[in-house]
Amino acid sequence: MEKSICIVLAVAIPVLAVILAVLFYLRSRRSGMFRSGSGLPKYWLTYLASKITDIQQKDMEIGNHGDSFIFITDLHYNANDGNSAGAAEYILDRSSVGKVIIGGDICNGSSRGKPECIDQILNCRNAFRKINPYYLRGNHDNNTEISDRTPEKELPDSELYDLILKPIENRIVCNHEFHYYFDNEIRKIRYICLDTGHPDSYVLPDAQIIWMQNVIRKLDPGWTVVVLTHQYYDTDGTVDGNGNKILAGLNDVYDKTDATIACVICGHSHADRLEITPKGFPVICTTCDTRGGGDPGSKRIRFTHTEQAFDVYHIDTAARKIHVTRIGAGSDREAAY
Ligand SMILES: [Fe+2]
Repeated sequence: MEKSICIVLAVAIPVLAVILAVLFYLRSRRSGMFRSGSGLPKYWLTYLASKITDIQQKDMEIGNHGDSFIFITDLHYNANDGNSAGAAEYILDRSSVGKVIIGGDICNGSSRGKPECIDQILNCRNAFRKINPYYLRGNHDNNTEISDRTPEKELPDSELYDLILKPIENRIVCNHEFHYYFDNEIRKIRYICLDTGHPDSYVLPDAQIIWMQNVIRKLDPGWTVVVLTHQYYDTDGTVDGNGNKILAGLNDVYDKTDATIACVICGHSHADRLEITPKGFPVICTTCDTRGGGDPGSKRIRFTHTEQAFDVYHIDTAARKIHVTRIGAGSDREAAY
């Protein structure tokens, strides 16, 4: 009897250990825990090797007249395949691209409440920990865009701020709010990050437009402005209340500043868009990074590079051109300003 129990245990314990190891590995893959550049699956490494030469070529073209960065938006992290952090790291390691800006909606709305929202933000931050990106607030990040919304399920502003902006406070000009700017002083580019995610309205207040105009108006000649916002277009492709306010604010300041407004970059609508505004600068929308986001523009297939989608921006301030290289599903784009 004792011998048969020993045999059963001798078989069962290793089997159980293997099952637990596999479950832990699969959970870690989903959370992005192992997603550094070196941890990417082979199909991603093969794909990135085919894109990196193009990015390096763009680096050489802009030379010392411009700047470059990665823009990733609408990650909805508990529905994300988790390879974008590793892909971004791969690009940063092999090019002059020096920063990542995350355009909002790190969270997917969670009916289970605040802990799951925090978990998603921490998993995202953990995946991008070597990069320490800039973050914009999206409409899902306070966990208020859920049908069974209650105060207990919401992530308060103070906690969200500490999770996404406190780690970058030393690199931004910010008054403990979700809108801020940061500069590349060598290349004379000001990045203005707007906040359209206030959970009471999801529309930025007039005071924020006035703040944006002031920080543009103060710039000296030779400076270029890049405006980043989560919302600009609605999901049907029309310009929403935020877009109308931002465009009116930029049109108003356009001829009252010595700086050049290069573009508005946005996410939220889960589709690629590019239009030139009447003043001549483009609004460029990047589709969702998450495969499950309903992007109508391209098929998203698991275990291929189309499971993610984000953009590498090169702003050429001499040629007044913007090169947008797509990583993942979708196509490269270009615009002048
Ligand atoms: Fe989104």
